[in-house]
Amino acid sequence: MSEKEISVGMLGIGTVGRGVYRILKQNRAEIKQKVGAPVEIKKILVRDTTKDRGIELKDGVLTTNPEEVIANPDIDIIVEVMGGIGQALEYSLRALKKGKSLVTANKDMIAEYGKDIFDAAAAGKGDVFFEGSVAGGIPIIKPLKDCLAANRIRQVIGIINGTTNYMLTRMSRERLDFNEVLEEAKSLGYAEADPTSDIEGFDAARKLAILASIAFNSRVALNQIYVEGITRITAEDIIYASELNYAVKLLAIAKESNDGIELRVHPALLPKNHPLAAVNDVFNAVFVTGDAVGEVMFFGRGAGELPTASAVTSDVMSAARNRLNNISGTVSCTCYDEKKVKPMGDTKTKYYIRINVADKPGVLAGIASIFGNNDVSIASVIQKNTTGKAAEIVLVTHEVFEKNLQDALKIIKDLSTVNEISNVIRVEGE
Ligand code: NAP
Ligand code: HSE
Repeated sequence: MSEKEISVGMLGIGTVGRGVYRILKQNRAEIKQKVGAPVEIKKILVRDTTKDRGIELKDGVLTTNPEEVIANPDIDIIVEVMGGIGQALEYSLRALKKGKSLVTANKDMIAEYGKDIFDAAAAGKGDVFFEGSVAGGIPIIKPLKDCLAANRIRQVIGIINGTTNYMLTRMSRERLDFNEVLEEAKSLGYAEADPTSDIEGFDAARKLAILASIAFNSRVALNQIYVEGITRITAEDIIYASELNYAVKLLAIAKESNDGIELRVHPALLPKNHPLAAVNDVFNAVFVTGDAVGEVMFFGRGAGELPTASAVTSDVMSAARNRLNNISGTVSCTCYDEKKVKPMGDTKTKYYIRINVADKPGVLAGIASIFGNNDVSIASVIQKNTTGKAAEIVLVTHEVFEKNLQDALKIIKDLSTVNEISNVIRVEGE
C-alpha cells in the first residue's frame, strides 16, 4: 500500500457534505484498503464557522476563506457540495485549472456548465465525477458512461424527482388534493419552502439534461427539453387513471429515433404493470433500454444525506485511485456528437383527455368528429360525474402527433358545449 495520503478539500458541509464526512470517518479502514491510501478531509469551506453542524469536526478544519481550499497545494480532490451556480462554478473551475480533481453533486452546475467543467478538467489533467448529481444514491452516471458503454442507448425514462413522486404517491393512495400533499411534503422536509423547481419539473429537467447528454453522446441544453410539472394533476385524474389501470408519475424521458432525440419532462399515465409504476414515495428509478443489454432499471433513494453521500464518497474514492495511479479522464466528456432534437409537435404518444361538457345529446359526436378531422384517433371513452347539466368525458387516444392533438384541442376548447378541457396527460410505457 502506498504511503501517500489523499487530501480532500470540501466546499460546503450541509446535508450532503455532512454525510461524506460521516462515511469517510465511519468506513475509514475499508476505504483505505479499497483506495490504497488513507483519504483525509483537510479543509472545509463554509459561510459560518461557529454553526453547530451536529458532528465532531477537527479544530481548524472549517474556513470561510475559499483560497484555503481551492488554492491549497496540499489538496488533491475538491468535493463541491455547496450548491448553486455562481461561486460553486467559479471555485470548481479554478480548482480544476490548478490540476485538482473535482467531485460534485451539483446538477444545476453540471447541467448548465458541464462543458466548461470538462474543459477545465482536461486543461488541468484532473478528473470530474458527478454521480450524486442525478438520482442521489442510485448509480446511473457511471453505469451509462461505463458499464453500458457498448450499447446504443435507445431510451432513458426516469422518476428522478423524489418530492413529486412522494406527492403523487400520497395523492394516489390517500385520494388527497395537490395542495394538501404539497404542505405535507414541505412539513416532512421533502419539498423546499419554494417548491417551484420540483413541482414545475425543472429539477427533473436538469437531471434529464445530464442523463441524455451521456446516453446519446450529444450535449443537451436545458432549453431543448419540453418541461411540464405536476401542478395540474388532480385527485380525479389519479382516480380515473387508476380505473383505466394506470399510475400517474412525473417522468423524465429521453428517446432516440431516426429523426432525432426526444427530450421531455411531464406527468404521464404509466400502465400499472410497468416497472416504474411500482416506484413510490421518495424513491427514484431510471429505466434504460440499450440495443444490446435490453431493459435495465436502477432503483433507490434519490436524495438525502447518506444516500447522496454514498455516491459522492464513492466518486472521491475513484478520483483518489486515479491520483495514486497518476491517471485521469475515466469519466471524461463523451459528447462527441451533435444530435438533432425533435420539436415537441413531432413527438407521438397516446393521450388521456378529461373534458367537462354540457350533458346533451350529440356533444360527444361533435368532439369525436373534430378529433377525427385532425387525425387523432380515439381508443376509448368513458363518461363520468353526470349531473344532468354537465358531464365529464374521459378519452384515451391511440398514438398521435402532439401537433395534431393540440390543433384539435384548440377547436374543441371553443365549442359552446365544452365547459372546460380539464386535463391532458400523456400516456407512456405501452
Ligand atoms: P446545504 O445543506 O444547503 O449545504 C450547503 C453547504 O454549503 C453549507 O455548509 C453552507 O455553509 C455551504 N455554502 C453554501 N454557499 C456557500 C458560500 N457562498 N460560501 C461558503 N460556503 C457556502 O446543501 P445540500 O443539501 O448538502 O446540497 C449540496 C449539493 O448537493 C447541491 O448542489 C444539491 O443540489 C446537491 N444534492 C443534494 C441532495 C440532498 O438530498 N440534499 C441530493 C442530491 C444532490 P453554511 O453551513 O455555513 O451555511
Ligand atoms: N429536490 C430533489 C428531489 C432533491 O426531490 O428529488 C434531489 O435532487
